[in-house]
Amino acid sequence: RQEQDLLGQHWVITAGPTMEAIDPVRYISNHSSGKMGYALAAAANARGASVTLISGPVQLPSPQGVQVVPVKSADAMLAACVNAMTSQADVFIGAAAVADFKMKTVCDQKMKKQADSDELTLTLVKNPDIIATLAQQNRAKTMVGFAAETHNVLEYAKSKRERKGLDIIIANDVSRTDIGFNQDSNQVTVISANDTWTPDKAAKSDLAVQLVDFIQHHLSNLHSS
Ligand code: C5P
Repeated sequence: RQEQDLLGQHWVITAGPTMEAIDPVRYISNHSSGKMGYALAAAANARGASVTLISGPVQLPSPQGVQVVPVKSADAMLAACVNAMTSQADVFIGAAAVADFKMKTVCDQKMKKQADSDELTLTLVKNPDIIATLAQQNRAKTMVGFAAETHNVLEYAKSKRERKGLDIIIANDVSRTDIGFNQDSNQVTVISANDTWTPDKAAKSDLAVQLVDFIQHHLSNLHSS
């Protein structure tokens, strides 16, 4: 039986894509599978943490013992996070692939094809940055984000960590087709203020165990310093 060293801790994790309505039958979304966030939730729960998993629409079973809060839009995901962290959480991990934009106005009826035009223009506005908002509000002792990049991976990840006010950022190269989006395995580089660490490529479930370990070490160093 695994050591229950996270007993008494509350971890909040986002996972999956968000789904932004265009009208009652259409939406904007992305191909995030949710696998990494679900694996992290299972790994933290296995070590005794109480875990709230705030999940966009995915095709995955709920990890046993984890409280899953299903959401669709980024606005709903942010509201569910704030609600889960009315008292400060120990760890927040933003593993969700949040849509950058949403409709300025969601049509309340199904949009009709215009007979006189071959073009359609949708006006989009920026979604809230969930993790940056939560970091600014100091909703968790340790804030962990992901950075999926196609080039200058480490450089962009480092600046993203600072810009969003995160303790740890987990960078992966999504230009590689063998890892990341929709794959079962992943290779990442973990970056904190003091450390840069690249564990071997591994199954997301194994990697999640190692990432939870790294985050826990970071958190226990906070307590001892
Ligand atoms: O999309 P981006 O590269 O900025 O994502 C970096 C981190 O920020 C990820 O952890 C992602 O979950 C989070 N994020 C968020 N809200 C957004 C965009 C990204 O929480 N609107």
